Amino acid sequence: MDWGIQNRLNRLIQKDGRALFLPIDHGYFQGPTRKLEKPGETIKPLIQYADAIMLTRGVLRNCVDPAIPKPIILRVSGGNSVVGEDLSNEGQITSINEILRLNASAVSMSIYVGSKHEHQTLLNFASLVDQCEDYGIPVMAVTAVGRELEKRTARYLALCARIAAELGAQVVKTYYCEENFEKVINGCPVPVVIAGGPKVDTALEVFEFVYDGIQKGAIGVNLGRNVWQHQYPVAMIRAIRGVIHENLNPKEAQQLFEQVKAGKA
Ligand code: 5RP
Repeated sequence: MDWGIQNRLNRLIQKDGRALFLPIDHGYFQGPTRKLEKPGETIKPLIQYADAIMLTRGVLRNCVDPAIPKPIILRVSGGNSVVGEDLSNEGQITSINEILRLNASAVSMSIYVGSKHEHQTLLNFASLVDQCEDYGIPVMAVTAVGRELEKRTARYLALCARIAAELGAQVVKTYYCEENFEKVINGCPVPVVIAGGPKVDTALEVFEFVYDGIQKGAIGVNLGRNVWQHQYPVAMIRAIRGVIHENLNPKEAQQLFEQVKAGKA
């Protein structure tokens, strides 16, 4: 692998081979998402526990201090909205010059396998990889399902993850699935991180799926709403960090969560 790509990946993926990415890019198609109305405020108490943050250039420029000590994963696909006709109708929204200007450590782009705009999003993705390879920038594929969350089966996710890697992704973000998640990992030759999806009912559920995903070979998470939409976001991110970087099991993560929540850790 090219030295520059490897160097940037090393900023994102820690020495233990694991990673905790904190995405706050949701506004690019959802607008002022709950608890992300002021993204700069949302991340202030969380940033120290994340290995990288994922966001668009607009939020980066307007809401984040350039002295931020964490690497940036720049979301560079968009052009759609929750009220538009089809969420899969995305294009590249940020040029390679802008990616370099903003000193991104990586970029991310969604692909919509099986959707109306599958072909367009896959070609966009391949083109982005070509542009980024010229400058040593890693590309993370976001395997998006649009509104159809029920698509998240191992068979479908394995298909998306493998296609993303075949097109040149250095990291793949996919969803977790309870059954046969190892099939997704085994068929994907590059590191996989798990997204959280819409907020689930309990903190323990999050620790359980992160833990299981890691046992089955994911290197970590790119997890947003289940952290910053939670009533205790710092306790959430610290417990998730414990699962990822300190090998806590879900019960131990829950204990850490309770301690942080009570101000005892
Ligand atoms: C949305 C994204 C998010 O970065 C990704 O889905 C992870 O966030 P969450 O854990 O909230 O699902 O690509 O645009």
